[in-house]
Parts: sequence; structure tokens; C-alpha cells
Amino acid sequence: MSRTIIVSNRLPTKAHRTDNGLEFTPSEGGLATGLGSIYRADGNVWIGWPGLVVEDPDEQQHVIGQLHEDSMSPVFLTDAEIRDFYEGFSNETLWPTFHYFSQYAVFDQHQWEVYVAVNEKFCEAVLREAGPDDTIWVHDYQLLLLPQMLRKARPDSSIGFFLHIPFPSQEIIRAMPWREQLLEGMLGADLIGFHTYGYMRHFLSAVSQLLGYPSQNGMVEAGQRSVLVDAFPMGIDYEKYAELAASEPALKSEQTYREALGDVRVILSIDRLDYTKGIAQRLLAYELMLQQYPEWREQVTLFMLVVPSRDQVEQYKELKEEIDELVGRITSTYRTLSWNPVQYFYRSFPIEDLAGLYRLAEVALVTPMRDGMNLVAKEFIACKGDQPGVLILSERAGAARELSDAIIINPSDMHQVAEAMHEALIMPEQEQRHRMANMQALVKQYNVHHWVQLFMDRLAYSKIKQQTLA
Ligand code: UDP
Ligand code: G6P
Repeated sequence: MSRTIIVSNRLPTKAHRTDNGLEFTPSEGGLATGLGSIYRADGNVWIGWPGLVVEDPDEQQHVIGQLHEDSMSPVFLTDAEIRDFYEGFSNETLWPTFHYFSQYAVFDQHQWEVYVAVNEKFCEAVLREAGPDDTIWVHDYQLLLLPQMLRKARPDSSIGFFLHIPFPSQEIIRAMPWREQLLEGMLGADLIGFHTYGYMRHFLSAVSQLLGYPSQNGMVEAGQRSVLVDAFPMGIDYEKYAELAASEPALKSEQTYREALGDVRVILSIDRLDYTKGIAQRLLAYELMLQQYPEWREQVTLFMLVVPSRDQVEQYKELKEEIDELVGRITSTYRTLSWNPVQYFYRSFPIEDLAGLYRLAEVALVTPMRDGMNLVAKEFIACKGDQPGVLILSERAGAARELSDAIIINPSDMHQVAEAMHEALIMPEQEQRHRMANMQALVKQYNVHHWVQLFMDRLAYSKIKQQTLA
């Protein structure tokens, strides 16, 4: 039977060292949470890094055994690989470049070499696991070279690639040394997917300008092969979130927060710690809102959950300090004995609590500077059930292409974001319900099952099309 082998840098489960030995918990981040609940069907396997350095062979066997039970197969990375491949080339070169933060990008030849070597390591792991009829689905920017490496080893395999982050204008890609190798690496796939048509157009223009490959109707003529390119906006497991939000633990969690916060209106913000998420700018906009609309003081609280992420990377450390300072300033300026303007948490929360918070909040404030998709926005909608609620969403999140019933803002325009918060807080309930119902219908229909099916159908189509063109 043919299976799908999913490959990504991070597995949906991560290992931790505790006093009681190794523990396993769900990973954060849209790729892991989005696909994590559904990949297990039909004997599928997920290959990736378990998030921890494990050198001891016995301990490695333990991790392999634990993950095997949940259809995962680990690729172990060394300290040096984590530094140069993960923190280095992936998160100090590709991540900032692809999110238009070129000023943060480091170009380091050694890190590039380690990136190539780790992609080779993943290639070997996939070749060990995958049978000749299996479909291989590679995910995200950490593994851009893998499709081509796999193609060389298995010329006839079905290989899909999906990029979970934006693909920037070719002007930005052009600035990177190794740009041709990276594009050729992706073109080893039979199908390349992006969240939006905008990202897809940027990619087609990059392969045309930098590699001279023409394309027609999304089919790139890449030398001897044709490669299909298309847009697939990723969805969430809608039913899972809707059911979770109506479950006893989520309702209990909502109640606990409500009792602790008292009778205030809640604006919710949830992200990994990342400069792409616009967290500092969001705090400045909230501060401006409290200045301009004093009537909201003691009436509103910003519930801000920041999940620790990539904390060994310099820009992330600096951002953490900046956020701490801003929260301190806003709190000390506006707090009263009985009211806190910001409830700030720097840790991850169990999914039942997230569902409780999505229910509790009247407004979700999702204002990234750049974001491939943003699943938090969709989870808020799915958890709302028949409650009213308003989503404020950045025009630079992939999700804004679909969720036009949100209040769409420019995240760099602090005044507009402050106004949007006020508008959300005074929006009539009927209008909230109308917009929410429209967004729920969309998020429910285009859920993650639909996304996987569409991708797999297009991958099969790409194979057929290649044969007719050959
Ligand atoms: N998330 C989580 N634990 C938390 C907070 C958030 O697992 O404590 C999840 C959240 O539910 C969402 C994901 O992390 O599914 C973030 O995905 P998103 O697409 O919004 O952004 P990314 O982190 O992938 O850039
Ligand atoms: C984004 C990326 C994922 C990544 C996740 C968490 O969603 O697209 O590939 O796994 O962030 O980041 P981390 O560096 O912790 O894997």
C-alpha cells in the first residue's frame, strides 16, 4: 500500500529532559499543530527532529521507540547542526529574508554548508523509510534542498513540497548568495505549494528571472522536467477546535480566567516570540488606544500570550527584552490596584486553555508584520461557536486573503490598529455575528482535510501532466 511520508524539520511532538527523564509534549507552530492531528491515517509516517539533542545511543533508542508508537521517525541533530543549520542558516538567513526582514539576514558560507549537509541527512532518513511507491511530502524552508536530493536518488517518486512561510519578491531572493541552488532544490518536487497566489507569483517570477525557466498555467519548464506550482491556503482541523471549545475542560478554563479577570473586556494576542509577528508594534498600538480613548481604561485588558521560540538567536533575545520593557511601561503607567492593562505570559499553554481563551476573548488581535498564513486567526474563529467576537487581522498575513470579514489593518500603522481596537469594542453584536458566521463557514469548508486532499489531487495531476508532456 502506498503511504505518505511527511518530512519537516520539527516533528509535531518534542522531547524534553526533566528530573523524571524524557518527556514528550506537542510542538508549537502552525505546521506542527495544523498537520499534527491528521497525519496518522493510512500508515503514514512523519520524519523530523524531536527538538532536543540526544547523543546517548540508549536514549536515542528510547526516543525512537516512543515516537514510533505515534508514527514518527526522528532525525537527531547535533549541537553544531542546531547552531549552524537550525538557528543559523534556517533562522538567521532564510527566515528573515523570506519575511522581508533582510536587515537581519546573515550570509555565512559555513552555515550554508551545514544546511546542505543536514538536508542530505534528512534525505538519507527519508530514503531509509520510504518505499518506491510512497508519496513524499516535504515541508518548509528548513528543507528547501531536499526535493532535488530525493529526486536524484528516486527519479520516479511522487514528491510534493509546501512552503509554510511567505515567498518574497524576486528582488529579495536575488540578494541571497546560493539563490540558484535554493530554487533548484525546490524544483526537485513534482508539485510546489504556497499559501497564497501572491507567494506563488513571486516564486514563478524568481525562477523565470534567476534560472530562465518559463512557465505556463503554473507549470514550470525546469530543464528536462515540468513542475506544477499552485496556491493552497492551509486550513485547520475545524471540528477538533469547535468540539474542544465546547468541551468541559475548555469551558472550565474560560470560567477560571473570567473569575480571575473580573468584568473586563478581553483583547487576545497569541504568538510565538517572533519579530515577524509585530508584538512590539501591537503593544504600542494598545498603549495609543489607552491614551486616545481613556474610557477604555479599567474596562479592557490585553491578554498576551507569547510562546518562547528560537531563544538562542540574537534577534529573538532582543525582542524578548523589548517586549518586557514595553509591558512594564504600559503596566506601570496605567495599572490601578484593581486592574491590569496587560496580562502577559511568556510560556506555552495547553490546547484546552487556548480554546478557553479563544472563547473568553471578545477581540483577537492578530497583527503580524509578515506571516505565511497565521492559524491562530482561524482557531479563534473555529472556537467561537455561536458567540460573537471580532477578529482584527493584518493585511500581511496569508489569512487576510481569505478572511475579508475581519477588520483588516496595516500593522505598521499604529493609529489604524488603535482605531480598529476601538471599532471592535463598539461593534454592534449583530454585525459581529454576521461577520463571524461568514468567516466560520469559510474556515469550516476549507479545513485542513480539504487542504491535504487538494494538495494530493494536484500532485497526482502533476504526475499525469508530466507524462503527457514527455
Ligand atoms: N500554540 C501552541 N501553544 C501555545 C500557543 C499557541 O501550540 O501556547 C499554537 C497555536 O494554537 C497555533 C500555532 O501555535 O496552532 C501557531 O501557528 P501560526 O500559524 O499562528 O504561527 P507560527 O507559529 O506557525 O508562525
Ligand atoms: C513556523 C514555521 C515552522 C516551524 C514553526 C515553529 O510555523 O513555518 O516550520 O516549525 O514556525 O518554529 P521552530 O523554529 O520552533 O520549529
